[in-house]
Amino acid sequence: MSNRPLRGAVIGYGFISSKGHIPAYLERKRQKQDVEIVAVADICEERRFLAGEFLPEARVYTDYQILLEQEAEELDFVDIATPPVFHAEIALAALKKGLHVLCEKPLTITLEEAATLLEAARKHQRVLYPCHNYKHAPVVKAINGVIESGKIGKVRSVTLNTFRNTHAKGVNEWRTHWRREKKFGGGGIAMDHGSHTFYLTFDWLKSYPTAVTAKMTNLEPDKWDTEDNFSATLTFPEGLAHVHLTWTAGVRKVIYTIQGERGAITVDDDEMQVALMEKTSGPDVAQGAVTWTVEKKKIQSDWMDASHVHWFNSLFDGFKKAIAEDEFVGKEAKEAYLCIQLIAQAYRSAREKSLEQPLEPLRILP
Ligand SMILES: NC(=O)c1ccc[n+]([C@@H]2O[C@H](COP(=O)([O-])OP(=O)(O)OC[C@H]3O[C@@H](n4cnc5c(N)ncnc54)[C@H](O)[C@@H]3O)[C@@H](O)[C@H]2O)c1
Repeated sequence: MSNRPLRGAVIGYGFISSKGHIPAYLERKRQKQDVEIVAVADICEERRFLAGEFLPEARVYTDYQILLEQEAEELDFVDIATPPVFHAEIALAALKKGLHVLCEKPLTITLEEAATLLEAARKHQRVLYPCHNYKHAPVVKAINGVIESGKIGKVRSVTLNTFRNTHAKGVNEWRTHWRREKKFGGGGIAMDHGSHTFYLTFDWLKSYPTAVTAKMTNLEPDKWDTEDNFSATLTFPEGLAHVHLTWTAGVRKVIYTIQGERGAITVDDDEMQVALMEKTSGPDVAQGAVTWTVEKKKIQSDWMDASHVHWFNSLFDGFKKAIAEDEFVGKEAKEAYLCIQLIAQAYRSAREKSLEQPLEPLRILP
């Protein structure tokens, strides 16, 4: 690969583009000169106007197809940041034009679309890379470090709670509440946030789940047609994950717990506590046989900033590396597929009174 900057186009100039991706690209351009955004497309006139103001050197298009027609030859990648229902169509068109694709989560809203994209990336030899940015949160990297150190032993179970006092909103100039409209979001909180939760469980349990059972509610069915609360249990070969996502909480935060054979990690936003069992004469605290040492740390991760602009650079490093190494359908793309499968099977389980549904990771992870 030459040393010239990667040239990208951003499709969808909404919240995550204008507050997360593009500021991060501009900072990266200042520091490393290895990326530049040369074009933007958005279907909303006011958003196009704002894009033109923020990125005066970029060409701004009304439609991603026109952008691809005019710009593809000069581009290396597209960054897709539209609502989820449009991801598959745009990503497929870009791959067919020979462009690498960085795509916001969820990669697609159906498993068939996800399979089509993985296949197209393989066929056209272009990188397909999801924005699985929670992996790049400093506190999540710290969790992974403790697990890797072996201090807490083998991880047996994890819980992931994501509390939000409202659904996330899009920009005011377009359909602000699209996450509550199935025709744009493809689903509610499971579709919107499920991926983040699921790919973290894969890393922590160091395997892929084999089954899921789920339950969900929509507390305002007269107003919206997507779920606002979602609970699921994932069965792993040697453990369980329990996930709970809510848009009707009294607080905004994440609480994660990771239980290992010899200790545990508890995370409450930036606060991380690592408890390690002292040398014991048995497992039972009632007999005074075991005590714990507890280490507390604060790891600044800017959870309240929903753009997660500070996590983007590390994510983009991964995308750039995949391009450099011709890793067209790597771990991230395969995990995006597994996340979509999990979301689809969780919806099926919830429709069928929480009946357990199988997952088939091996089919796409040869
Ligand atoms: N990874 C994260 O932490 C994170 C955070 C927020 C949003 N997101 C994801 O980013 C994506 C966008 O979310 P958002 O909050 O920025 O939404 P948003 O509503 O603020 O922005 C969407 C933009 O896309 C434009 N648009 C809609 N349809 C389009 C189309 N067919 N072609 C071109 N432009 C189109 C709209 O005009 C709008 O400007 C979603 O997939 C969402 O899940 C990810």
